[in-house]
Amino acid sequence: MTVDAVKIYKMEEVKKHNILKGANKSVWTVIHDKVYDITQFLDEHPGGEEILLENAGTNASESFEDVGHSSDAREMLSEYYIGDIHEDDTFGSADLGPKSWGTGQVQTQESSWITSYLIPMSLALGCAFIYRYVFG
Ligand code: HEM
Repeated sequence: MTVDAVKIYKMEEVKKHNILKGANKSVWTVIHDKVYDITQFLDEHPGGEEILLENAGTNASESFEDVGHSSDAREMLSEYYIGDIHEDDTFGSADLGPKSWGTGQVQTQESSWITSYLIPMSLALGCAFIYRYVFG
């Protein structure tokens, strides 16, 4: 799909696609201001069909991020991408990327410096003072 062929949907339109059963079954969801038709994906979702049905026709960005979906999951999104949310209706959420457990990011480095150095040092100093006070 070329850039100028991107379809734009209003939330009003997305909301209609929460037909969970029957011949007209149609389930769309919104993740980071992009619209996905996940009707064919329901059976395949490793997290189960139920949770996707709960998010049918809604902005599921937060729930999607809360689960901490892997980069594989994020790549799969492109298969179901059908268009973007109209600029009047955007939610402005960002793709946070897969959860990182302590590599690369400045934020994690900073907090690991505090937990791995500052906290043990303060504890050790605290213990030394208590020791001197009690036994000294
Ligand atoms: C088209 C959108 C989605 C795709 C392609 C997708 C894909 C996946 C994949 C591949 C997994 C396996 C674990 C992983 O690789 O992260 C997974 C697990 C899961 N997903 Fe999704 N998912 C989508 C939307 C959602 C939404 C909207 C929710 C709502 C909360 C959700 C909830 C879950 C849950 C609860 C699990 C199980 C996590 C676990 O067992 O640890 N998913 N999904």
